[in-house]
Amino acid sequence: MNRQPLSAQSRTSGQPQASGPFALYEERVASGTLRRDPDQERVARRLDRLWVELEAYRPAPVRPQEERKGLFSKLVSKLPELLNRTDERVDDGIPRGVYIVGRVGRGKTMLMDLFFSCVTIERKQRIHFLTFMQEVHQRLRTLKEANPGMSDPIPPLAQTIAQDATLLCFDEFQINDIADAMILGRLFEALFAAKVIIVATSNTVPGDLFQNRPGADAFKPFITIIQRHLDTEVLDSETDYRRGRDQDDTTWIVPADETARRRLDKIVARYGEGHPVEKVTLEFSGRTLPVDHAQGPVARFDFTSLCSRPLGPNDYLAIAKKFPVIVMDDIPSLGPDDANVARRFITLIDALYDNGNLLFVSADDSPDNLFPSGEGADAFARTASRLMEMSSESWLARAHGPGGVLSRP
Ligand SMILES: Nc1ncnc2c1ncn2[C@@H]1O[C@H](COP(=O)(O)OP(=O)(O)OP(=O)(O)O)[C@@H](O)[C@H]1O
Ligand SMILES: [Mg+2]
Repeated sequence: MNRQPLSAQSRTSGQPQASGPFALYEERVASGTLRRDPDQERVARRLDRLWVELEAYRPAPVRPQEERKGLFSKLVSKLPELLNRTDERVDDGIPRGVYIVGRVGRGKTMLMDLFFSCVTIERKQRIHFLTFMQEVHQRLRTLKEANPGMSDPIPPLAQTIAQDATLLCFDEFQINDIADAMILGRLFEALFAAKVIIVATSNTVPGDLFQNRPGADAFKPFITIIQRHLDTEVLDSETDYRRGRDQDDTTWIVPADETARRRLDKIVARYGEGHPVEKVTLEFSGRTLPVDHAQGPVARFDFTSLCSRPLGPNDYLAIAKKFPVIVMDDIPSLGPDDANVARRFITLIDALYDNGNLLFVSADDSPDNLFPSGEGADAFARTASRLMEMSSESWLARAHGPGGVLSRP
């Protein structure tokens, strides 16, 4: 799977690919790598259509700065009119993007990655949505610092993104944060105006994004923009493909007692062999984060030190990137009063899963029973599904194999 950040994403300008996503999907089913799934076939066909359209799509280059200013002012003046037209889809000859939505483990990311690998358009980028937002905030800060008089850095940022990518693929599109919600509407409108095509995977249908939260009303125009530019494809077959694999019994240890602690000691010793035990300070985005117990590729944490403190996606991404192996002691059962803690745990696991990290834990209960009720218990279903996959023998094999998390520089 391609999981490089936006800035590091490779660009290909190779020969037209003989196979599109549907043919590739069929090949994998025929070879037994994938199980046949009619819902996936339908989405693969939709992505195939977009692939064909993209092969013929070469939008005019993005306009230079001065002209763009005029263009954006025009756009802003049209915005109220555009935003009121909730029922219309845009039909401007530009290929429509696809928003793939469904429950966990249904193959959304797998299909998007398959599609992405087929596209030969020169400027294409595939990125986890949390990483994208992290880069957006970073670039907005840089723009403001470099141009103290600049009143609105979003249009120039959108232009830079559009210059780098005609196709943007976002994995796990989600809005958790009012600051992101406020930026996204205008950023996306400017990206669509610059003829960028977007494909996204998500567990949430566009109409439910950022709903029932303070500020949700102000976010509604963004939902409209998404609906006008992207086709929603529901991928919701019966099977969560992360389940039913061979489980490894060293990764998720229940209960979190003294025996579990000793077993985790051995894991740390095994992966950290030859390295000193030390305290490390991670530095990123102008922040520092102390890690009290590091040993080469391993970092060991108590659950509370990671999830009961006000840490966010950036912290977890930094930890995931720095330490291929994470050992975590004492994951408690969570209840309705632990919604914040559970939300951080979800974000942590998203970061570790996306980066392919190895995770060894001791816990009060199995992933499915950890957070049965409370705000966010629905979202936790994805985390439980991911934790099951991260406890499988195939996950460990991948982490140890070529290109796996342990072999990365
Ligand atoms: N038809 C299939 N046959 C076998 N394995 C599959 C099939 N579809 C998906 N998988 C595997 O199941 C796992 C989960 O798929 P994927 O990551 O694409 O799910 P997802 O829908 O993106 O889930 P989430 O919402 O949690 O992100 C992956 O390892 C994927 O390769
Ligand atoms: Mg996914």
